[in-house]
Amino acid sequence: MKALVLAGGSGSRMRPITHSFAKQLVPVANKPVLFYGLEAIRNAGIREVGIVVGATEPEIRDAVGDGSRFGLEVTYLRQDAPRGLAHAVLIAREYLGDDDFVMYLGDNFIVGGIDDLVDRFRRERPHAQILLTKVADPRPFGVAELDADGRVVRLEEKPERPRSDLALVGVYLFGPAVHEAVAALRPSRRNELEITDAVQWLIDRGHRVESTLVSGYWKDTGNVADMLEVNRLVLEGLEPSVDGEVDEASELIGRVEVGPGARVLGSRVVGPVVLGPGSLVRDSYVGPFTSIDRDCAVIGSEIEYSIVLRGARIDGVGRIESSLIGREARVVPAPRVPNAHRLVLGDHSRVQISR
Ligand code: G1P
Repeated sequence: MKALVLAGGSGSRMRPITHSFAKQLVPVANKPVLFYGLEAIRNAGIREVGIVVGATEPEIRDAVGDGSRFGLEVTYLRQDAPRGLAHAVLIAREYLGDDDFVMYLGDNFIVGGIDDLVDRFRRERPHAQILLTKVADPRPFGVAELDADGRVVRLEEKPERPRSDLALVGVYLFGPAVHEAVAALRPSRRNELEITDAVQWLIDRGHRVESTLVSGYWKDTGNVADMLEVNRLVLEGLEPSVDGEVDEASELIGRVEVGPGARVLGSRVVGPVVLGPGSLVRDSYVGPFTSIDRDCAVIGSEIEYSIVLRGARIDGVGRIESSLIGREARVVPAPRVPNAHRLVLGDHSRVQISR
């Protein structure tokens, strides 16, 4: 069995964060989303992974390399433009041969891995196995309709009026029959070859398509609240460790990971919290479910339930909550006079100011 990991796409829904880097590299608990997927694939006993890349190929290659770090053998497959998930299967035809494969969308996050799903597929050998999850708003997803026996009867890509609240999760298992399906497809309304249509093609021809319901799922629908929530779920499993410096005036409570070269000075940190290598927390409070990436500084401030990306600095600003702060961002007080907010915001930024 092989894996096909999709890591193209521009990440328009995660702007402004994805203006500067690939959406599959957005960190959850200081680790790129893509890495969790690669680890899940490895843990399911798969070694050979084809990664489909687009314009952000150099960044993805930089981060993943030849895959040996993950115990994988990675082959890069270039897709000339984002022409759809089924198009990715089409260009991977030669690489995949007639092997079964798991297709994993690199911007999807599934709590608990895919071992059970892969085991089930290996046991039952359907033509396709899809994953579904209940979501509040199914419109940005593929949506499945089940009959009374729980069989998938219809799939619709990003419907305006969804027929159920069951969204297609970005992990699919396929036997070689899918190649015939993708070869038969025509581009959709959004001018892509949809994997949803390929699965529908299999259903329509009486091929066996199984589904599994999962919980604990996140995708980049542009919803920062969801991203903070998945960060929280991952931090729930954090193992405490201190590889940096914590001075006597500081207090660490609960599960806190202090990375190599990180410093906590005169501060109170209530876990679960991860503090990346080289970061500084001084005269501050860091509250539960906060991920602070490498080389950040939090000084004279309070922050809780937030994600802070590499190199950001938060200095003398009171309390921050439920926030996502980008790389090298600066959050500092304005001068007292004039009493006004001063903002330099990147394209598609969002700010909520407390009055
Ligand atoms: C794709 C699929 C969609 C699925 C989603 C999961 O959407 O087309 O059916 O629900 O992945 O991530 P896209 O990422 O192209 O918006």
